Amino acid sequence: MNPATVHVPVLVEEVLSGLLGQAPHEPRSAPRVFVDGTLGGGGHARRLASILQPADTLLTFDRDPSVVDRLRPMLESELGVLATEFPMGWSLHSPNHCRWILAPHSYCTIPEVLTSLGIAAVDGILLDLGLSSDQLNESDRGFSFRTDGPLDLRFDPTTGISAADFLRIKSEKEIADTIYQYGEERFSRRIARAIVERRLSDPIVSSKQLADLIHRVVPGRVHGRVDSATRTFQALRIAVNRELEHVEHAMKHLPGCLAIGGRLVVISFHSLEDRIVKHAMREHSDLRVITKKPITASAQELDTNPRSRSAKLRIAERVAP
Ligand SMILES: C[S@@+](CC[C@H](N)C(=O)[O-])C[C@H]1O[C@@H](n2cnc3c(N)ncnc32)[C@H](O)[C@@H]1O
Repeated sequence: MNPATVHVPVLVEEVLSGLLGQAPHEPRSAPRVFVDGTLGGGGHARRLASILQPADTLLTFDRDPSVVDRLRPMLESELGVLATEFPMGWSLHSPNHCRWILAPHSYCTIPEVLTSLGIAAVDGILLDLGLSSDQLNESDRGFSFRTDGPLDLRFDPTTGISAADFLRIKSEKEIADTIYQYGEERFSRRIARAIVERRLSDPIVSSKQLADLIHRVVPGRVHGRVDSATRTFQALRIAVNRELEHVEHAMKHLPGCLAIGGRLVVISFHSLEDRIVKHAMREHSDLRVITKKPITASAQELDTNPRSRSAKLRIAERVAP
């Protein structure tokens, strides 16, 4: 496995001031606890760790077990300590750094991990949704149609069904609806029909097979900057990982983990996710919305990090009941 990460985090300073409030760099006397629910390449988490004190705690989660497997040895060598295992993950602590907890689980488990650690409330939670560039680059996961690999698309390959199995067992209508709803693909019916016709003789098992089929049946291979296979791959990824259900669950339960004045910061890249986040922040009785409109990337960031173009950042604060 490649120990390096190529993922470039988006809206880093905006996330930091969103999590920390108005005076991000002021020293605090009480120990603080922050949670990064989507560790990915660790870009946001490292930035946050760099301003935390040894008495503070940073809890980091990722549903993809390979993320924690990659980051753990890197952090062990950087911090000069070995991680200690506990039932929900690993803990690293060195005299000069905050305690860093690595939990290879969905952000939906944040409440129970906090309980298991005896942490009553936290100062901030970050969710940076979607997938990372590292996952896109791992050809054996099927996230990218630019390289060939098994059509899996799961963040956690030990749970649920792969995208190949999804296309093998779902009805034509279920496949079409998924591609239409989660991918906003207007040729969804045509793609689903072609998949079902093909699987009669030869099931689709690789990312290249699916991409070739889409390129054959969807007119015009590239629309603007977007390849015509992008929307179908995105839709299947959202479906097999039940991503919207995880976001809905988190938006309902994570506000209860925040201390009064604690911040929930969410970056979404998909309109359906952003809609869930926007409504949940408005409607949750424990939250006050800080960002009336989502924060988006500056022209400078757009120039250097193309992933940032669809990022929308929303912030809410826990209020007293
Ligand atoms: C956009 S990346 C995060 C990048 C990260 N903020 C950074 O700075 O490198 C999204 C990450 O969220 C993870 N993820 C997706 N759904 C998740 C879930 N329900 N719980 C925890 N992690 C999840 C993915 O595996 C991926 O590593």
